[in-house]
Amino acid sequence: KKILFVTSELSELIKTGGLGDVSAALPRALRPHHDVRVLLPGYRQVMQSGHPIRLVGSLAGHAALPGGRIGRIDLDDGLIVYVLISPELYERDGGPYGDNRNQDWPDNHIRFARLGLAAADFAAGEAGISWRPDLIHAHDWPAGLAPAYLRWRGQRTPSVFTIHNLAYQGLWRPECRAELAIPAEACRMERMEFHGQLSFLKAGIAYADRITTVSATYAREITTPDFGCGLEGFLREKAEHGLLCGIPNGIDESWEPETDAHLLRNFGVNDWEGKAVHAEHVRRQFALEPSGSSGPLFVVVSRLVQQKGLDLTHALAETLVAHGGQLAVLGRGEPAVEDSMRQLAERFPGRVGVNIGFEETVARRMFAGADFLLMPSRYEPCGLSQLYAQRFGSLPVARKTGGLADTIEDGVTGFLFEEPSLDSYREALLRAFRVFATPSLFHAMRCRAMAVPCFWRQTIDPYLRLYRQVLESRHGEA
Ligand code: ADP
Ligand code: GLC
Repeated sequence: KKILFVTSELSELIKTGGLGDVSAALPRALRPHHDVRVLLPGYRQVMQSGHPIRLVGSLAGHAALPGGRIGRIDLDDGLIVYVLISPELYERDGGPYGDNRNQDWPDNHIRFARLGLAAADFAAGEAGISWRPDLIHAHDWPAGLAPAYLRWRGQRTPSVFTIHNLAYQGLWRPECRAELAIPAEACRMERMEFHGQLSFLKAGIAYADRITTVSATYAREITTPDFGCGLEGFLREKAEHGLLCGIPNGIDESWEPETDAHLLRNFGVNDWEGKAVHAEHVRRQFALEPSGSSGPLFVVVSRLVQQKGLDLTHALAETLVAHGGQLAVLGRGEPAVEDSMRQLAERFPGRVGVNIGFEETVARRMFAGADFLLMPSRYEPCGLSQLYAQRFGSLPVARKTGGLADTIEDGVTGFLFEEPSLDSYREALLRAFRVFATPSLFHAMRCRAMAVPCFWRQTIDPYLRLYRQVLESRHGEA
């Protein structure tokens, strides 16, 4: 079947977090079974990526949404990416959602409504492209209007909507309705209205045939007030009708310490030399004292946002340093969190090093060189960093929530703590220190972590079943 992924990130072209990784890896894992292609906005980074872009189609404007052209990029392994070209909307200096100072673009409602409508245009055969999807798979709020436009325009193409993070909702003033050609009937609580505003995320949930999220635990959590971001009732109803499920993320084949080309020296369970090389490399790169190398090396590779619990790590840094540990932090995000991390490096020179930036190679070498990854997230829909760390023999110290609870085995492949409190985090951190001090145990845990089955090829079946069900039920209706 022909499946169109609608997404705002795709890791080798543009990425701010795990959505980019999943949007790149999942279509590839599905390709032996389906003809999966991806629709992505033509941000400046995409247009200037160096990949040849062939013009293959065009879109008409609608309400305040400008028309555009469709380009096609064939990535090296043959994955086809349709690029929505609209220089006025997408070709800017900055990230996919905001400028270089982390300020959201003021016209994001137009930018991402255009993306959703483009998907519906594809399905209707109105993009000038003969390839018409049998199913649309939309991801997160930026693609939330794709299932909605399909319904509003009476199209029969079914859709799946995946929630990667419920906290980002895409909320707009109700006055945007006309600009975006949203019908009046949609502005109700049972549809996309959320406390007087229009929610793109809620539209995705309301109009898609099936809703998924990225771990079984998060699928349950989001039906409760603590994690539901005000949508728990709405989601509970979907879950009760069997329309919401959790399918855990996997990772792509490049995360193989034996072969990863980003590494300075490859390694594996019977050859740890490469790990030591990276530990030394990370210490040098983050200006950490080489003399500290008898203690464990902790790393953080993360968006620097409230979700990730960096305030807790900030508060525990003294304990970590006092016990002989060192910490290297790579991340970018909210200015206040970035500042708090910089302060740590100033306070503990040679013990804590911070790099405010986004760098794939640095990240991979950190996963390779670390003893432990810190991930005290307040919530975590799935989390990929802990999977990468485990693959590379670095043990995660993480909060027992969402995908972290599902992918880390406490005391076996990492360390989990229950409460989002300092005491509970400290207890897990000290357990990590104790294991580090017992080399045979530490070694055994590393080996267990590296053997956790987490490649997409090992975890793809639930998506295949879901697509089959959705396609069959629509077929039955026809
Ligand atoms: P989230 O999607 O919430 O950010 P995930 O753990 O699912 O969390 O995915 C994060 C992804 O982004 C991982 O691939 C991680 O390595 C990467 N990443 C996060 N911050 C950086 C950074 N500053 N530099 C390089 N990679 C980063
Ligand atoms: C989101 C979540 C993260 C998840 C990623 C990919 O950004 O925060 O937990 O792994 O999406 O699904």
